[in-house]
Amino acid sequence: MTNLVLYRKYRPKTFSEVVGQEHVVQTLTNAITMGIISHAYLFTGPRGSGKTTIARLLAKSLNCENRKDGFEPCNECSSCNEVNEARAIDLIEVDAASNRGIDEIRELRDGIRFAPTKSKYKVFIIDEAHQLSKDAANALLKTLEEPPSHAIFILATTEIHKMIPTIISRCQRFDFRKLSFPEIISRLEWIINKEKVQIDRTALELIALNSSGSVRDAEALLDQVLAFGGKTAQDIKELLGMVDNTVVGQFVDYLCQGQVGPAIEFLNKTMEKGKDPQEFSKTLVNYLRQGMILKMGPELANPILTGLTGEEKSKLCSQVANFQDNELRRILKLFLEAENKIKYSPIPQLPIELAIIESLQNEEK
Ligand SMILES: Nc1ncnc2c1ncn2[C@@H]1O[C@H](COP(=O)(O)OP(=O)(O)OP(=O)(O)O)[C@@H](O)[C@H]1O
Ligand SMILES: [Mg+2]
Ligand SMILES: [Zn+2]
Repeated sequence: MTNLVLYRKYRPKTFSEVVGQEHVVQTLTNAITMGIISHAYLFTGPRGSGKTTIARLLAKSLNCENRKDGFEPCNECSSCNEVNEARAIDLIEVDAASNRGIDEIRELRDGIRFAPTKSKYKVFIIDEAHQLSKDAANALLKTLEEPPSHAIFILATTEIHKMIPTIISRCQRFDFRKLSFPEIISRLEWIINKEKVQIDRTALELIALNSSGSVRDAEALLDQVLAFGGKTAQDIKELLGMVDNTVVGQFVDYLCQGQVGPAIEFLNKTMEKGKDPQEFSKTLVNYLRQGMILKMGPELANPILTGLTGEEKSKLCSQVANFQDNELRRILKLFLEAENKIKYSPIPQLPIELAIIESLQNEEK
């Protein structure tokens, strides 16, 4: 058990363990309780937000021999155990990404007429459904037109715009969203409690900041951090090769003073110390964004001012006071564009250098 990666180990086993996605959970649990089951569901939304997790929960709950509170799987009966151990024969998972699903859908179409082997429902989870080939999608469509009463389809996709509309219209659709910063923090806190390890709150904030709304990414990062024995924000910065806000703060000092040469020199010194231009740029853009919002209204900044110490916050406040609103926006846009160009640049820091020159030169005009 201990060797399982965290995100597998802690895949929610009940609906109550799911973080966020309240609208999805509420609608599905009501439907289960009332016995109003649709034959086709479509789960769409960003990666690592709970689509597969909730699809399996739905399947498990529908076939549970001893549901609790009307909708929760018991996790004790043989059906629940089989799902938890990934050996349930009436839960069929098709990964459309692997071979675009042709054989599997055909097989599925032929096999679907047969009643479930031992459970009430045969549940088909079709992951990355947008990747089904045209033939497979058409075969699926046929099946969705007249599904046998024992069959339930759950289609999951991160790219709904690539799905054919006739399939979408035959499904009950649920839109998953990225998890918020506090939701991810609460999930990480729950896990470290279970794992009986201690990690600083600021460290958890940095992990959450780097997960871009995906619980799976957050949990994978936490895994890495634990394996490394990390506990503090500093550990995490080192592990992820993150650039410190204080480093970026110093850099912004040069921008405030309009010093092109020293700014470029500082950038290159930072790169020589082994920092990655992409990471530098990411921290810089985030820093300037926080500055922009802080300038617009300190009350707006509260929920997004994360990962900054009190000292860093007051430095940022005094720095942004040097800029006009539109000037700050212009500089932020320049560095944002630079960030997007780094990947394709033969000299990785060149886009940042150009942004420095452009942001300070135009100012003198
Ligand atoms: N809403 C959530 N609440 C709790 N844990 C979650 C949630 N979403 C994701 N997780 C965690 O992340 C892992 C991966 O989630 P899941 O497989 O459900 O994501 P997904 O939306 O299907 O992503 P993908 O599009 O990449 O397949 C889960 O095992 C679980 O640990
Ligand atoms: Mg999935
Ligand atoms: Zn059960």
